[in-house]
Amino acid sequence: MTAVGQLVQLQRPTIATDQARRNSTRKVTLTIDGQQVTVREGMTILAVCREIGIDIPTLCFLETLHPVNACRVCVVEVEGARVLAPSCSRAVEEGMVVKTSSERVKHSRKLVLELLASSVDLSTTPNIPEWIAEYEARPERFGPPAPPAPPGTRDASVPGHHEPPNPDYAATVAEPTKIDNDLYVRDYAKCILCYKCVEACGPDHQNTFAIAVAGRGFDAHISTEFAVPLPESACVYCGNCIAVCPTGALMAKTEFDKRAEGTWNEDRITTTDTICPYCGVGCTLRLHVDEGEILKATSPLENSITQGNLCIKGRFGWRFVGNRAPEDGVIDGSHPERSEGSRSEHRHPERSEGSLSSRENGNRGNGRH
Ligand code: SF4
Ligand code: SF4
Ligand code: FES
Repeated sequence: MTAVGQLVQLQRPTIATDQARRNSTRKVTLTIDGQQVTVREGMTILAVCREIGIDIPTLCFLETLHPVNACRVCVVEVEGARVLAPSCSRAVEEGMVVKTSSERVKHSRKLVLELLASSVDLSTTPNIPEWIAEYEARPERFGPPAPPAPPGTRDASVPGHHEPPNPDYAATVAEPTKIDNDLYVRDYAKCILCYKCVEACGPDHQNTFAIAVAGRGFDAHISTEFAVPLPESACVYCGNCIAVCPTGALMAKTEFDKRAEGTWNEDRITTTDTICPYCGVGCTLRLHVDEGEILKATSPLENSITQGNLCIKGRFGWRFVGNRAPEDGVIDGSHPERSEGSRSEHRHPERSEGSLSSRENGNRGNGRH
């Protein structure tokens, strides 16, 4: 039996420990799939695999978030270890022998995919069809998916109280999409409970803590405090949760609406990087554009300032661009009013007394809903 004194308290790495790991110059030598590699101490197995071209599926991992090891689709076999190790967080060690595609690894990934795909709508999760084919997963073997729970049922579930499963169906997390604001929707029928949104909203990025995991077991779900609608919660609409969600459970309303009307065409979308005009931080905005229409804004993960994050203005404040009236001349680009004065004065004579009020109005218009 383990003595209490020997128990190890797992701790979230601090910026200082992260930095120390990244700056380490010590090397370790290990073997991955029969290939001997010498790499920097502190790297994860996943990072090394990516460097040497070994493909490992991931769902809950993101370079800008602390790993929480929730999905287990990235597991690998470490010789001498009793259980499979999540490659996204397990650091390499001297002399380690790793197998990334043993029968045990493939069987485990197959089961993870089957459990996820039978209970969650993965229709907007990238790579899923390819992984299901590669690991020969058969989510359908659990039966047809159970119909969506009535609105609010999963929110009202009591931890520890479970309904007996219906043997005619595969249990699902399906429930109606939550649409309670103009900026983004929450479709928890697509939620794999990867914790990324919770991490991004909480300790990793935003420190707003508007959402957390509520409930237990199969009833566990992402929730605001007391399951209140988003506008009544602590959410500040930075949209950083949308940016990290791997399944499309959290989605900008603009994208959700386009998908619903069948006009969302991924192949037509181009991206343009620009600078957010709203404040002096000057975050990099990546505008996703379909034939001249801005559909959403993100920020590149590799940008050292934003690390993929934005505030409400950067994330959603571009929508005025598509909402200008045709008489503005935007449609044909002629801008006829410019010769007689500024456009804002032409449309909003009350603003002509000074530029400050115009600026304030512009900013306020993109404030919290
Ligand atoms: S809503 Fe998205 S990011 Fe949040 S836990 Fe679910 S799948 Fe992960
Ligand atoms: S996204 Fe927000 S913080 Fe970044 S430049 Fe724009 S207004 Fe400033
Ligand atoms: S990606 Fe490693 S546990 Fe999810």
